[in-house]
Amino acid sequence: MALKLPETASLGYTPTPVELLSRLSKRLEGPDIYIKRDDLTGVGLTGNKVRKLAFLIHDAVQKNADVLITCGGVQSNHARATAVAAARFGLRSHLFLRKNGESTIDGNFFLDKMVGAEITFVNQQEYDRIDEVMHDLAAELAEKGQNAYVIPEGGSNALGALGYIRAAEEIAAWSRREKLRFDAIVCAVGSGGTYAGLLAGKYLCDLPARILGINVCHDAVYFRRKISSLLDGIRTTYLPDLKTDDREIRIIDGFVGKGYGLSRQEEIDIIKLTAEQEGILLDPVYTGKAMLGLQELIRRGEIAEDEKVLFLHSGGIFGLFPKRGLFY
Ligand SMILES: Cc1ncc(COP(=O)(O)O)c(C=O)c1O
Repeated sequence: MALKLPETASLGYTPTPVELLSRLSKRLEGPDIYIKRDDLTGVGLTGNKVRKLAFLIHDAVQKNADVLITCGGVQSNHARATAVAAARFGLRSHLFLRKNGESTIDGNFFLDKMVGAEITFVNQQEYDRIDEVMHDLAAELAEKGQNAYVIPEGGSNALGALGYIRAAEEIAAWSRREKLRFDAIVCAVGSGGTYAGLLAGKYLCDLPARILGINVCHDAVYFRRKISSLLDGIRTTYLPDLKTDDREIRIIDGFVGKGYGLSRQEEIDIIKLTAEQEGILLDPVYTGKAMLGLQELIRRGEIAEDEKVLFLHSGGIFGLFPKRGLFY
């Protein structure tokens, strides 16, 4: 029976499939790697953000919001998904995008504009206090009689993170049906909500897998703290009986590489290998780095050959296009 959680808006296509990557598994000379296709949650509204937004948009609609405010980098998948979702629900969206240097109208940013998002560029100093900036705008709009709903970076608050409890339920149901239990689940970590939801789901659905998060920004200390606080939020507001153990928050540092949104050759190589071997399109900012992390964990023997691994494909396809020059 599904866990009792708040209602969701109808957006995104779930459950997503789980598939075996037989050729990639062979090439990486390790365990069988399966993939959870959260890149198939939709087209414009695609990737992991859809699961979080299903909860957040429902809440926004319940509160009679007429504009959604959120933030991210210029190529933010979350900002794009929020803008598309807003349009789907007849709401307006206002995005605060962190910009350093020129940005061409491409990838996610192009789609933000397509769906009519209002965009304000901010610099790093402004982004450092972005929650305040977003709430200031909400207050300004309130004075004009508009009702704004503020969604934090990455949609990662306790409500958004519930989306990945639902994903964990899907994984548990798939495992029961296929009689195959995963020993490890690997995902990218950018703002922590996906990981927090999966870890909560591990406890709630009795998943034996260790959850391994590859951070693409900040460091393991930062994310252990953030994920622990998201789990507290989930417990306080939605699931008082949820019992988790902070020692199970496994963040694998060392794959930020040149920095958030910046690519190294080995990241490009694993993205190309995955595309050529499996026809699966990873993205340069999140899932490419996470797959490189998985490759390294296999190489180091931290994931053994006789284990079964599930890689979460959390989407991000539009981020490939502005980076085309790195590939060919
Ligand atoms: C494609 C993709 N994968 C993974 C992540 C990381 O998820 P989270 O922000 O929940 O840590 C994000 C967003 O940050 C994303 O856009």
